[in-house]
Amino acid sequence: MKEYALVVQGTAFTSRTPKEIEVLKDHLFCINGKGVIERIVAPEASDYVTVADAHRETSRFKRLNEGQYLLPGFVDLHVHAPQWAQSGTALDIPLYDWLNTYTFPLEAKFSDLAFARNVYEDVVDTLLANGTTTALYFATVHKEASVLLAEICASKGQRGLVGKVVMDDPEQNPEYYRDADTNTALKDTEEFIVRVKKLAESTKQGVYPVVTPRFIPSCTDEALKGLGELAARHDTHIQSHCSESDWAHGYVRDRFGKHDAFALNDFGLLTEKSVMAHCNFLDEDDASLFAKTGTAVSHCPISNAYFANSVIPIARWLDKGVEIGLGSDISGGFSPSLYDNARQAVISSRMLEDGVNGELPAAERGVPNSRLTINEAFYLATAGGGESLSLPIGRLAEGYAWDAQIIDTSLAAARLPLYDANEPLEDIFQKIMYLVRPEHIREVWVQGELVHKRG
Ligand code: GUN
Ligand code: FE
Repeated sequence: MKEYALVVQGTAFTSRTPKEIEVLKDHLFCINGKGVIERIVAPEASDYVTVADAHRETSRFKRLNEGQYLLPGFVDLHVHAPQWAQSGTALDIPLYDWLNTYTFPLEAKFSDLAFARNVYEDVVDTLLANGTTTALYFATVHKEASVLLAEICASKGQRGLVGKVVMDDPEQNPEYYRDADTNTALKDTEEFIVRVKKLAESTKQGVYPVVTPRFIPSCTDEALKGLGELAARHDTHIQSHCSESDWAHGYVRDRFGKHDAFALNDFGLLTEKSVMAHCNFLDEDDASLFAKTGTAVSHCPISNAYFANSVIPIARWLDKGVEIGLGSDISGGFSPSLYDNARQAVISSRMLEDGVNGELPAAERGVPNSRLTINEAFYLATAGGGESLSLPIGRLAEGYAWDAQIIDTSLAAARLPLYDANEPLEDIFQKIMYLVRPEHIREVWVQGELVHKRG
């Protein structure tokens, strides 16, 4: 009888396709020593009872209680870790003013490692408590504080992908907050990559360095070119902002005579491991280029409502084969919860949709076939994020990491409206997606390790 590092018995929800949820009722999830789901056993399987019995009396067996359900851990594809310090504030002005008035002064404070540690420990704890097991982070321009964020992810067990931000153009960035010069920006980035790769060797879940030009306006041509080369040489992920606001999109058009997507591609910055935040103003050609290069969109629906007054036609880009995940964009988006962002993704899409349940002729108002379902929003927060990062995460499926949330629907202090013992599991899933708060998230696991438990 094969012995596993952990066997979990319970009912799980996972994406089968972007549109379809798979319900795994009372299955056994058999996790190996590397924290990978090696086998999932259905109750009908001939050895179901044998596998369960072999582990039942050990500390390696976990049976979910009545009212508890498993979801994959969420993948947040866009978080500005330092901006956690101003989350919920500073949303009264447009992007360009917001950066200069609030955000650059805040990020400049991260030269102070004690301050950085306080904020970074809090943001990693907060995301874990909200069910986010993998996060793609922008840190700041500071090399040491950026390494510190990766170390905090490593020690708390979160799968952090972390970028030291590059902002080298002295014309565009304030003197108090930018790289010393282009050469230093590239040298610091390379040293950062090497140190985080070394750090990763001591982790089970992995931490990853990410090449991170903040956005085209903050970088010189030399830096963009050098960063594309560094990413290729070290085979790293790449992240930036792409066609986010009218101002940023217009700036790139004036400078290069093309859209962000094609400009980024010219510098080698659109690859299978690239994730571009926002992408509000992609056109059909930009989206085709994303699909062709394997570049993913990080969809940030809360932030987009504030900075771009925009709803992206996500359903259309999904149909075109673009990889898409969900991002909180802390603090352009105020919420650290991907539940909140999944809800907003659905709500915003309904505002883009044409007509009102067929009351108006198609296309008389809005855009046909725009709506996202809650199943699709869940896919973006889980499997879509995993595919965007080209990592085996975001599904409760064989060969995937055991990154999971245990949701408790039956807490006395925070009951979900479940009254019918025979309520279809698909409905329970929807109630979880719409109504869960952090207090319902009882345990969070990354790569087979318990990383958050609510007391
Ligand atoms: N564009 C450049 N920097 C930023 C940032 O920090 N947040 C957002 N939302 N957009 C940006
Ligand atoms: Fe952002």
